[in-house]
Amino acid sequence: ERLRPLIAGNWKMNGTGAALEQIARLRTLLEEAGDIDSEVLVCPPATLLHRAAQGAEGSPIHIGGQDCHADPSGAHTGDISASMLLDAGASHVIVGHSERRADHGETSQTVRAKAEAALAAGLVPIICVGETEAERLAGTANQVVGDQIDFSLPDTFGETTIIVAYEPVWAIGTGRTPTIEDIAQMHAHMRALLVAHFGGAGETALLLYGGSVKPSNAEEILRTANVNGALVGGASLLADDFFSIIVAA
Ligand code: G3H
Repeated sequence: ERLRPLIAGNWKMNGTGAALEQIARLRTLLEEAGDIDSEVLVCPPATLLHRAAQGAEGSPIHIGGQDCHADPSGAHTGDISASMLLDAGASHVIVGHSERRADHGETSQTVRAKAEAALAAGLVPIICVGETEAERLAGTANQVVGDQIDFSLPDTFGETTIIVAYEPVWAIGTGRTPTIEDIAQMHAHMRALLVAHFGGAGETALLLYGGSVKPSNAEEILRTANVNGALVGGASLLADDFFSIIVAA
């Protein structure tokens, strides 16, 4: 049966108070549209999370964090714990985004600890994986993504849906995407690994594609086998574009 898709927006380090208008606009578009067959998530910067959650209250829009610390509290200046995100109104948190892996030296072990912290706090982690362009050209994309899945995912998710986002690093913010065949191949590879590790929970895991998803390519990508949603960066900043992607699912 078809899994209910998740369309997640990652605002990254974009947006001040004025950007909350986009939440209000998205809410209006969703309310006018009525029945939407997808789960909708917006991950604003941490400074906007609480206000975004208030603006989304009573609407189908879920709010998520972009990262969390692996510890529940303590002497970690500038960091935010999973329970703090929950308290601010988040239901989900992105962990292991390639920008965090690259800019903050996060390893798959770090990412797993963060995902475990998210689950312990009652948040749904969205665990990101993806190869670099050099790795794709060297023919090691399957191996790299397989290793990231092996080492970044907790041993158990309990009752929580497993969500993995495949984001080829070279497709992020570049306007370039893999071919549909390459997306289908990688998602089938990930599905097989998740089923091998988690059995039935792997069958129902949501496999998101991310990297230059936009209104013009969303439909084709989202109808690809084993693509159960999208993680959208740039095109999630404007509610009208993001909404077009949501209705394409
Ligand atoms: O988390 C989102 C991704 O990094 C994709 O970003 O849609 O701007 O390419 P993008």
